[in-house]
Amino acid sequence: MNVIKDIKSKALPKHVAIIMDGNGRWAKKKGMLRTFGHENGAKAVKQVVEASAELGIENLTLYAFSTENWKRPKLEVQTLMKLLVSSLKKEIKTLQDNNIKLSAIGNLKSLPTKVYNELFDVINTTKTNNRMTLTLALSYGSREELLNTVKEISIKVKNNIISPEKIDESIINEHLYTQNLPDVDLLIRTSGEKRISNFLLWQIAYAELYFTNTLWPDFTKQHLYESIIEYQKRERRFGKTSEQLS
Ligand code: FPP
Repeated sequence: MNVIKDIKSKALPKHVAIIMDGNGRWAKKKGMLRTFGHENGAKAVKQVVEASAELGIENLTLYAFSTENWKRPKLEVQTLMKLLVSSLKKEIKTLQDNNIKLSAIGNLKSLPTKVYNELFDVINTTKTNNRMTLTLALSYGSREELLNTVKEISIKVKNNIISPEKIDESIINEHLYTQNLPDVDLLIRTSGEKRISNFLLWQIAYAELYFTNTLWPDFTKQHLYESIIEYQKRERRFGKTSEQLS
C-alpha cells in the first residue's frame, strides 16, 4: 500500500506505452503452445490496466499486434484475433467499472470484420469515460503511420489547405494516429529484448526507456510499480542542464 502512496506523491508519467513481449518464450518454457502464452498475456493486460487506472495514469498504450505480426503462422494470428474479441467482450465491464475509455491505433481496416466490429462496439460504449485512455495498437507500424501522415499533409498542401511554411510539430501530431495523446513519458519493454520494433517512433522522442527481463505473462502490478519508481528516479532534462532545471 505504501508503495502506491509513494508513487502517487511524485510526478506520474502521463503516458505509459508497453511493448508486451515474451508470450511465446513463456509458453515454451512451460512446454506449452505459444497460444497458451498469449492467453496468459491477456491476463497480464488486465492486471496492468487496472493498476494503471488505480495509480492515476491518464494514458496507457499497449502494442498488441504489429503490422509485422501478420507474417506469423496463420493459426497463431487467428488465435490472437480470437483472443482480442473474447477479451474485449469479457472486459467491457472492467472498462466501464473503472471509467476507462478504449481507443485503438493502427491500420484498423485490415483487421478481420469480427474484431473491427467488436473493437468499435467497445470504443463507442466507453467513449465518454475519462479516468484513463487505454489505447490498443493493432496492426500498428510506426513507419506506416508516418507515411500516412506525410501523405495526408501533402494532399492538404496540394489543395492549398496548409502552406508548407506552416508545417510544424503540432501539424504532424494532429495527423498521427495518436493525435489526441500526449508524447510517451515511459516506454516499457518486457522479455529482455532492447529494441523499439517500429513502435511510436515520433512519440517516444523524449520517453524514458525501461527494459525488464520479465516475460509478459509474468508481468504483474508489482512490476508496473517498479518501472514507475525507476522512472520517478530519473531526471528528465529535455536537452537542458541539471542547473537549468533546478
Ligand atoms: C509478444 O510475444 C506478444 C504479442 C505479439 C501479442 C500481444 C498480445 C497479448 C498480450 C494478448 C492479448 C492482448 C490483449 C490486448 C487482450 P511474442 O509472441 O513475440 O513472444 P516471443 O518473443 O517469446 O515469441
